[in-house]
Amino acid sequence: MMRHLALLAVLSAGSLAAPLLRGTPGTLKEAFAPHFHVGAALNTEILTVADHPARALVTRHFSSITAANAMKWGPFNPEPGVYVTEPADALLTLAEAHGMQVIGHTLFWHQQTPRWVFQDVQGGPISREALLERMRERVRLLAKRYGERVHLWDVVNEAIEDDGSLRKSAWHRILGADFVPEAFRIAGEELPASVQLIYNDYSMFLPGRRDAVVTMVRDLQARGLRIDGVGMQGHWGLDFPRIEDAEAAIVAFAATGVRVHITELDVDVLPRSPDMFGADLNKRAQISPENNPYTDGLPTEIQEKLARRYAEIFALFVRHADKIDRVTFWGVTDGDSWLNGFPVRGRTNHPLLFDRANQPKPALEAVIGVAAGK
Ligand code: G3I
Repeated sequence: MMRHLALLAVLSAGSLAAPLLRGTPGTLKEAFAPHFHVGAALNTEILTVADHPARALVTRHFSSITAANAMKWGPFNPEPGVYVTEPADALLTLAEAHGMQVIGHTLFWHQQTPRWVFQDVQGGPISREALLERMRERVRLLAKRYGERVHLWDVVNEAIEDDGSLRKSAWHRILGADFVPEAFRIAGEELPASVQLIYNDYSMFLPGRRDAVVTMVRDLQARGLRIDGVGMQGHWGLDFPRIEDAEAAIVAFAATGVRVHITELDVDVLPRSPDMFGADLNKRAQISPENNPYTDGLPTEIQEKLARRYAEIFALFVRHADKIDRVTFWGVTDGDSWLNGFPVRGRTNHPLLFDRANQPKPALEAVIGVAAGK
């Protein structure tokens, strides 16, 4: 495959790209149909601009779509009684027009949740009972508006730290260790029984978080609360995590009896300091020529490395396809990736399968080649 990739990279860089792209075999969703759904997260522009150029890629390659922001508490319900439903509605319209599955992201997260959620009318801290009621109102409204049309909800996002301890968020301050079980209780009671309920987090290959999530799933099950799956975000890099560490997490989650979802896959190609892994949005660094080296495009050698990395990642997923329901990319093209702004603002990153001109990268062919057993 290597010789093939090298040739592909050279051709893609030049004017011969067009004939080559016509030869790109199949689509992601067809290639992986025997194994799992392949999804993408869509930003609000892609959702609301009908002739957005990335739309054609979405409908051609993906069988599952997630709103990158539109369904989160803040964007959806920024003030009490104020609902911004257009981008979320557009997600459902697009999905239903093209037979794609809709993923609800996310019911409860410590980011992008408005401050008012945790406050009473005087601006003081809300009581435990009032917060639980507010959580229930949110889920009830979403259940009424979207019901079974949303296939799955990320019920809780990122409630556990790298070391396995509970994140000290506003949720934790008010609800303590009951946050996760109460969230799943409310979701299980308010959403239709067919809607899948999952827990979602990043850096799941870290033993501390992995083991804490396994314990959390077993605790929910012991309480008789429904949890159908675990979402491993997959904000990974060219050299991390080790495949065996990601594999250990997939195996550990599946051993609890739930399904595994790869929910937010991308491969960062830019330099990162060792303390900058994961997706902790509080961690930021300053831009410099050293940490932003590919402003004019990805050199062939890195393009090939990215393709090889994606191939080994998908080989892992295919090996465990009996445990995995879905692999979702966090974005469609390099231009719309959150990694252009994290952990350093304003960089030019290249973490996805399609470039800034909406063209397939060598990594697309490498990934499809894995499905074809090449
Ligand atoms: O919509 C506003 C716009 O009105 C305003 O002018 C602009 C100015 O900054 O901000 C816009 O909101 C931004 C929003 O993305 C939409 O573009 C927010 O500032 C920005 O913080 C937000 O970033 C999102 C991030 O979550 C923050 O929570 C990313 O798009 C989104 O991809 C990212 O996704 C998260 C997952 O939900 C959970 N896992 C990690 C993943 C990556 O951080």
